[in-house]
Amino acid sequence: MNQTVRAVKISDHVYWVGAMDWSIRDFHGYDTSRGTTYNAYLVTGKKNILIDTVKRDYVDELISRVQSVVPLEDIDYIISNHAEPDHSGALDIMIEKIKPEKIFASKMGVKALKEHFLWNVDVTPVEDGSEIILGDLTFRFYETRMLHWPDSMFSFLVEDNLLFSQDAFGMHLASSERFIDQCDSSVVKYEAAKYFANILLPYAPLISKLLEKMQKLGLDPSIVAPDHGPIWRGDSIADAVSMYTEWTQQKMTRKVVVIYDTMWGATKKMAQSLADTFAEKGLYVKVLPLKGVHRSNVITEIFDAGAVLIGSPTLNNNLFPTLADVLTYCKGLKPRNLIGAAFGSYGWSGEAVPQLKKIMEDMGIEFVGSCKAKYGPSENDIQCCRDLADDVYRVLIEKTSTSESH
Ligand code: FEO
Repeated sequence: MNQTVRAVKISDHVYWVGAMDWSIRDFHGYDTSRGTTYNAYLVTGKKNILIDTVKRDYVDELISRVQSVVPLEDIDYIISNHAEPDHSGALDIMIEKIKPEKIFASKMGVKALKEHFLWNVDVTPVEDGSEIILGDLTFRFYETRMLHWPDSMFSFLVEDNLLFSQDAFGMHLASSERFIDQCDSSVVKYEAAKYFANILLPYAPLISKLLEKMQKLGLDPSIVAPDHGPIWRGDSIADAVSMYTEWTQQKMTRKVVVIYDTMWGATKKMAQSLADTFAEKGLYVKVLPLKGVHRSNVITEIFDAGAVLIGSPTLNNNLFPTLADVLTYCKGLKPRNLIGAAFGSYGWSGEAVPQLKKIMEDMGIEFVGSCKAKYGPSENDIQCCRDLADDVYRVLIEKTSTSESH
C-alpha cells in the first residue's frame, strides 16, 4: 500500500498514527462542525505496540501511518482502551494483518469487544492498577468504568510519562496541529467543553473521583494522548485538569439560557422580552432559537449556566417537536444545579407549557414559574414575561450570592 500519509512522532517511543476526519458533521447525534480525529498510537521499542485503532472506514489511513514507521508484521501487541467502533471498528482488520502475540483490554473490554463485534478473538484482560513489561517498555492500566463506557480504561507508558486517556480529555476537532498548545486556545476551550457536555457530563461525579485517584496515585503525565483531537503536553495538561475539575462541579453560575422555537413568532416575542429583561439587569444571557441551533450546542450552553428558560408553542396538544428532541437529549446528559421557567404561546388548548414544567422537574431543574400567551402576546403577556424574568433573577442571585458568578 502507498504511504499517502505518515506518522507523527509525539515522544521518545510514541507516534500518532490516527486518522483525520475533516468531513464528519454528525457523530451519533453530536454536531461535529469542526470534524474530528480518531487517534491511534504506535509505541516503538524492543516490542512494538499499537494503542487503539480507528473508525473502520479509515483503516487505510491508519495502516499508511503505521507503515511509515514499521511494517505491520513488526507489531507485537495491541492494547484496546475502548470498544466503541470509532476506536475498535478497524480492530479485526488490524488483528488479521498483524497477527499480534497478544491483545490487551480491561476485563469489561474483553466482554464488550466480543459482544459488540460478535467475534471470538482471544483478548487478555488486564486488572485495574496492574503493570506489564512489553520488551523494554512498562505499561500501567487504570480502569475508568463508565467514562464513558463500562470497558473504558487508561494506559500509562512509564518510560515516556505518557497517559493514553481514550475519550477523556478529547474533543472533536480536526486540525493540522497535533498538539493543543499549537491550536487556537478559544477553539480548544469551546470544543473541549462541548465534548465534556455531550459525552462525559452524565458521569461528572465519577470524573471527580477519577481526578482524585490520579492525584493520589501521583499520576502527573508529561503528555496526555486522547482518542480524539489534539494532544495535551506540558503546561496545557494542568489547564485540562483544571477545566475538568470546574466542569465536574457544575456550580450554578449567573449565566441565563433562553431556548425556544416558534410557529408564527409569538413565542419568539416572549423569548425576546425575557432575554431583554435579563440583559437590562446585567446578566449574561444566551438565546438559542432551535430553528438554527443544534441540540449538542444547546447542552454546551446549558451545562455551565444557572438558569434555563424554555419556550414552546402548542402544536396538536403537544410540545413543538424541536423542543421534544432537545429536551430528550439534554435530559439524558443530566445537567445539574439549574433553576428554570417555561413559556409559550397557544391557540386553544395550551398543553406545551405544563408539559415543559413536568419535563424540567423530571430533569431536576428547580421550577420558578411560567407564562402562557393565548395567541398574542398581549401587553399583559409581555408583562408576565418581564415579571417571570424578575423572579428568576431574584432566585438566581440569591442562590449564587455565596458562589462565583459568571
Ligand atoms: Fe470516541 Fe467513546 O468513543
